[in-house]
Amino acid sequence: MIIRENIPISELVTMRIGGNARYVFELEDKEDIKNLISELKNHNIDKWYFLGAGANTFATDAGFDGAIIVNKIANIIFKGDGDKIHFKVSAGMDWDFFVERTTKEGCTGIECLAGIPGTVGAAPVQNIGAYGQEVATTITKIHALDMEKDELIELDPSECDFSYRHSIFNSTARGKYYIYEVDFTLEKGEIKGELYGSLQKYLDDNNITSREPKVLAEAVRNVRDSKLPDPKEIASSGSFFKNVYVDESKVAELDEKGIPHHGTKVNTGWLIENAGLKGKVFYGFKVSDKAALVLINESGKSYEDMQKAVKEISDTVEAKFGFKLEQEPNVIGK
Ligand code: EPU
Repeated sequence: MIIRENIPISELVTMRIGGNARYVFELEDKEDIKNLISELKNHNIDKWYFLGAGANTFATDAGFDGAIIVNKIANIIFKGDGDKIHFKVSAGMDWDFFVERTTKEGCTGIECLAGIPGTVGAAPVQNIGAYGQEVATTITKIHALDMEKDELIELDPSECDFSYRHSIFNSTARGKYYIYEVDFTLEKGEIKGELYGSLQKYLDDNNITSREPKVLAEAVRNVRDSKLPDPKEIASSGSFFKNVYVDESKVAELDEKGIPHHGTKVNTGWLIENAGLKGKVFYGFKVSDKAALVLINESGKSYEDMQKAVKEISDTVEAKFGFKLEQEPNVIGK
């Protein structure tokens, strides 16, 4: 285990916002997971935060008076079982590397989640989803350290309360379970049925008729690259705002008002764009001119300024359309 002290969180997260963390613990093997609780006790730490690649997280300017725990273990084991392939993957593995591995095996299930920045361990936390797929449908077991009992445990997906950008890990059991390994089962084959609109359009525009998982994964990476900032070059946390879900009874009202939606999901990017906010900069934070749910940190230095920007954006959308925006990324220590 590598233990570092007084580390700027802004250097650990893609939004580049956050004060100092008292400690960062980097776990390098399974023994480090087993020893985690005793190491926290040895350092008198009673607060911790599990960080993946920092692609969906930032911190307040006050930083974090505890330990940020980062898993550096990146193993993958898989075995075939007829048309199915079972994967056992360490939490520290790069998510897109895992997607690439599965599509190489001809597996369908997560090919549309290609190109999402982050780690395998972080994927279930917010139940990552894109282009019609959600990771929850492919997870068969979560291996975690129960931080209260100091015990290695297993959770079935039915115990994780997965829904849109939601699980027990980012709600009721936040901080309770440290996910160190995830099991997935994928099937060999191809997606059946209708594809997500913008993905189908990309395929049509490029005369691609194959639905082979590796072809779709590459198409998704290209669509994402054309819309979403590369966190290595541009500071952001991907979608900053969630899409808003309305009650079934409100859907007709959306149609009357001409607000685009997919069932009960309101296209919140449309709301932001049609509130005239696309490309606008507030306190150093810019509403992306390619994807309005994305907030880019152009020159912002503080969480406080980011909050001011978010308030202006949210208030403008609410004044025009009556919807309250909800933030997607996590805030360390909140
Ligand atoms: N739209 C606009 N203007 C915009 C953006 C979107 O009008 O600037 C409307 C359009 O009607 C468009 C619809 O919103 O057809 C959907 O847009 P898009 O396909 O770009 O997706 P999104 O709803 O903006 C969500 C996810 C993304 C994911 C894409 C593709 C959330 C919070 N975001 O964005 O996930 O890649 O769908 O499936 O659900 C992320 O979570 O960080 C992320 C990038």
